[in-house]
Amino acid sequence: MNILVTGGAGFIGSNFVRWLKKNAPEHRVVNVDALTYAGNLENLSDIPQDEGYRFVRADIRDRAKMNEIFFENDITHVVNFAAESHVDRSIVDPELFLSTNVLGTQALLDTAKQQWKLAPEDKYSRAFREGVKFLQVSTDEVYGALGKEGFFTEATPLAPNSPYSAAKASADLVCRAYHETFGMPLNITRCSNNYGPYQFPEKLIPLMIHNCMEGKPLPVYGDGMQIRDWLHVDDHCSALYAVLTRGAAGEVYNIGGNNERANLDIVRLIIRSLGAGDELISYVKDRPGHDRRYAIDNTKITTQLGWSPSYTFEEGIQQTIAWYQNHMEWLEHVLSGAYADYYERMYAPFFQ
Ligand SMILES: NC(=O)c1ccc[n+]([C@@H]2O[C@H](COP(=O)([O-])OP(=O)(O)OC[C@H]3O[C@@H](n4cnc5c(N)ncnc54)[C@H](O)[C@@H]3O)[C@@H](O)[C@H]2O)c1
Repeated sequence: MNILVTGGAGFIGSNFVRWLKKNAPEHRVVNVDALTYAGNLENLSDIPQDEGYRFVRADIRDRAKMNEIFFENDITHVVNFAAESHVDRSIVDPELFLSTNVLGTQALLDTAKQQWKLAPEDKYSRAFREGVKFLQVSTDEVYGALGKEGFFTEATPLAPNSPYSAAKASADLVCRAYHETFGMPLNITRCSNNYGPYQFPEKLIPLMIHNCMEGKPLPVYGDGMQIRDWLHVDDHCSALYAVLTRGAAGEVYNIGGNNERANLDIVRLIIRSLGAGDELISYVKDRPGHDRRYAIDNTKITTQLGWSPSYTFEEGIQQTIAWYQNHMEWLEHVLSGAYADYYERMYAPFFQ
């Protein structure tokens, strides 16, 4: 497979590139990322650029560039991670989220359709090249919030509550339409909250670990009883690979590890693991539209594709805390903004 990974300098995308290099090194990977504030090439500093891996700085909304990349690399598979991903930021600037997450996805779908359809000019033809696939990496947030009971299944109606989740849900619907109308071979995955190495420290777990290590206040939204279903990022990566290689065309797969935790319990666990005290907890005004509970029913992917998570939460969170403790330099570069210079330092020589 020649796999185009978009958003591969972000948290999950960079873990996915590393996962592929370790577990399926026979595939060629082209990583396309615009390097927004969330894209950090230091996440991949241990992966050499060679025959099997190439990084290109580009925006997925740039259709001419996407066409060129597809053509030059004979792309056979797309795994689309590229997105604006932080709910708080979507409350401040919804338009950017719609532009990147919806129109960016559509630009990629059009490129794939143009390159993979056997008769691209024939609007009635649904024939695509053998063995190609588009994988849209989506989120359980598209389903909205749950009460105390119940789980999201793939049949749960979409009811997004934030501009972020509305943009992700919209992209899912555009993907669905490209499958129904054009016969585009694709899958959509909807995963629960991820944690693990290389997560930008604006998100709950790395933020709390960092602040706790520095003895700074730990800001907890509202009463802290929002429940999320946590999955280690490596388990998300193995699930994505299962769907990419074995998912039935047009299907949606939920991904989750049956690991429901309240935010406050996670914060307390981090405090205990780092030997700090509860006095660091600082309750702050809740974010508007904050969903109360998410929980995934993973029956479809476990029974139909034989996938299951390999980490228990207890193992995964301890490994993650240790990773951040051992990567203080990475954290400091991200927090100081120094990581943004990395691209210039590493790649400028190639462009001279
Ligand atoms: N983090 C989670 O818990 C979670 C859970 C389920 C699904 N997801 C989905 O997984 C994907 C990746 O999430 P993440 O947490 O790694 O996000 P992230 O913010 O860490 O990474 C996003 C990456 O996309 C890049 N990007 C943004 N706009 C771009 C554009 N226009 N063109 C090219 N690249 C662009 C950024 O530079 C960044 O490297 C997202 O689509 C998100 O919706 C995330």
